[in-house]
Amino acid sequence: MSNRLPVDRVVDDSGEASWRQSPGGLVTALEPVMRASGGAWVGWVGQPDLEIEPFDENGIRIIPVPLSDSDLELYYEGFSNDTLWPLYHDVIAQPGYHRVWWERYAVVNRRFAEAAAAVSEPGATVWVQDYQLQLVPAMLRELRPDLLIGFFNHIPFPAYGIFSQLPWRTQIIEGLLGADVVGFQRVADAGNFSRAVRRLRGYPTRTPYIEVPGMGDQPARRVIAKAFPISIDVAGFEELAARPEVQERARQIRHDLGDPATVMLGVDRLDYTKGITHRLKAYGELLAEGRLSVEDVTLVQIATPSRERVESYRQLRDEIELTVGRINGDYGTISHQAISYLHHGFPREEMAAMYLAADVLLVTALRDGMNLVAKEYVAARADEDGVLILSEFTGASDELRAALLINPHDIDGVKDAIVRAIEMPRHDRRKRMRSLRKRVAENDVSHWSNSFLTTLRESRGTQTPFGGG
Ligand code: ADP
Ligand code: F6P
Repeated sequence: MSNRLPVDRVVDDSGEASWRQSPGGLVTALEPVMRASGGAWVGWVGQPDLEIEPFDENGIRIIPVPLSDSDLELYYEGFSNDTLWPLYHDVIAQPGYHRVWWERYAVVNRRFAEAAAAVSEPGATVWVQDYQLQLVPAMLRELRPDLLIGFFNHIPFPAYGIFSQLPWRTQIIEGLLGADVVGFQRVADAGNFSRAVRRLRGYPTRTPYIEVPGMGDQPARRVIAKAFPISIDVAGFEELAARPEVQERARQIRHDLGDPATVMLGVDRLDYTKGITHRLKAYGELLAEGRLSVEDVTLVQIATPSRERVESYRQLRDEIELTVGRINGDYGTISHQAISYLHHGFPREEMAAMYLAADVLLVTALRDGMNLVAKEYVAARADEDGVLILSEFTGASDELRAALLINPHDIDGVKDAIVRAIEMPRHDRRKRMRSLRKRVAENDVSHWSNSFLTTLRESRGTQTPFGGG
């Protein structure tokens, strides 16, 4: 179960409704896992006030959970995306702490827990996804103690000094501890969670175990908190990128851009965690200083619409579009644009063609749980070409050490990395891309889900008292 289903219901101008793949890394990762599992996916359909009966979509049983307009405002845009999101991403933006948001978060989490409890067979495995549903594990355990419950956090889990700002920090910890296994992207996230448990509840921990004492009629339990770095369907993506029509489309994209010597690409939800403004600043300065010229280099920036009713996202969009307009106005020519800016979604084939067309992929996130775009780029590059510039503040940087690693706050460092990527000799590009491809192939999404679900299944056998083995 996740807040958002793999498909969103969209209505076009003529009032015609259709389904389209939902944005974001969670769906990219879980869609192939769920198609192979025969399970059901419990979540929201992407539009307010819609009561839809369960249905089948592309081999997945869909169980819709309705959200009203006011649920969206308080639970989704408010507590999930204006409290937890900035807090968990190291307070890049100021989180809002509002009791009405919190209260609705708890109400909606209960609705999700009840929906899952109603459709789960005895002893079933329920895998709860992401920060929007952190209270669900404990609620579900209360409703259905027979279930095996996993939780995976797709975003970072912050250090205690930051997490402790949250007025409802203890309730969140208790909610998560309802799971048998709590998974995180990075070892550091799992450590931050265990530390928060010790500080707030005083429960004994010994990595990866947390001992939860019995309470009332609830027996003592052992919870596992551990890192499971997420990935993509590597073979599926490789197959997509190998299709002749996708390769032809990549050539066409380069041609349409004026066949510049270097195409750089950024692919991000339009989100302040992604460091898009830092990237534009670095690129703008390189053009201003004459270290790059629009005759030779073009940046394609895909900024996928996201959370458009949240004020900080609106402001960011204005800032990005103003900056893009300025850079294009200052440095573009009739035949060469500095930045080709695209604010909409694309089919997966088109994404693969973009990756193939790009000599350099820029990932400059200020904080990111994983960043699957980086892994998709690597998976697409069977030609062992292309340079990945990757922020060290992404989960992906733990694995993708052969990228050009950058600190996005260091604008001079980002500029130097861009120039280095553009000038990198072919044999160096090949060596790095080979190493990156090896790492991505070793841990694809089925490896991720198998290792999480195996740990979850085996957790049933580890419910011995602390120190008991
Ligand atoms: P996040 O989960 O924060 O959005 P990720 O980088 O982990 O970030 O995942 C983003 C996913 O969304 C990737 O699979 C990427 O291909 C996809 N995506 C991003 N932008 C678009 C777009 N404009 N059209 C289609 N897919 C997109
Ligand atoms: O993990 C990141 C995440 O927030 C997912 O939970 C979510 O589905 C995706 O990004 C896109 O965000 P949203 O659902 O708010 O559009």
